Amino acid sequence: MTLDAGGAPLRLRLDLGAPRRQPVWPAEIRLQSFSAADAEAVERLLVDVWPIGVAGAPDGWFAEVRKDTEWDASLVRLAWSERDELLGLCHAWTSGFIKDVAVAVPARRRGLASALILDMADTLARRGHSAVDLKVMPTNLAARALYQRLGFRLVPD
Ligand SMILES: CC(C)(COP(=O)(O)OP(=O)(O)OC[C@H]1O[C@@H](n2cnc3c(N)ncnc32)[C@H](O)[C@@H]1OP(=O)(O)O)[C@@H](O)C(=O)NCCC(=O)NCCS
Repeated sequence: MTLDAGGAPLRLRLDLGAPRRQPVWPAEIRLQSFSAADAEAVERLLVDVWPIGVAGAPDGWFAEVRKDTEWDASLVRLAWSERDELLGLCHAWTSGFIKDVAVAVPARRRGLASALILDMADTLARRGHSAVDLKVMPTNLAARALYQRLGFRLVPD
């Protein structure tokens, strides 16, 4: 999620001990955890969202992430439309770090990313994590506004 031009990524943190909103899902969203059959749809969404490609994944996103010791398919939450289009995803590593958040362009500004992140925060809290971290490029103002609104705060270097 750090693909962008301009500066080093910022590390942000959400304290899972602090009160937070419950996820509010846009209408007609079907939520599911990842299975291998979804790999193509996920890769399509990631390429759409980051047209310059998925960094470090020459064989595709799934081939790359499944090798990671922090990979857990149940920490990839997928939001589908009624017509089975993949509209958004949130992927965390088992360390409690959110690796990717992406929402398809036509589905944006309806609260989907917020709901996916808050849902992931609940999952990670249930697994015993006290905080969730992620990285964002300084120039990604949309994502920074989203994270700030959800209560993420900058982790000083
Ligand atoms: C960033 C992204 C995930 C936001 O998804 P989304 O579903 O549109 O986000 P939400 O609808 O939950 O937005 C919640 C709030 O975040 C802020 N926000 C979201 N997108 C914004 C934008 N383009 N400009 C300014 N603020 C924005 C707003 O405060 C928004 O609330 P509002 O719509 O009531 O004003 C989406 O734009 C995306 O996939 N971008 C490309 C991938 C990316 O940058 N991922 C994050 C990498 S760190």
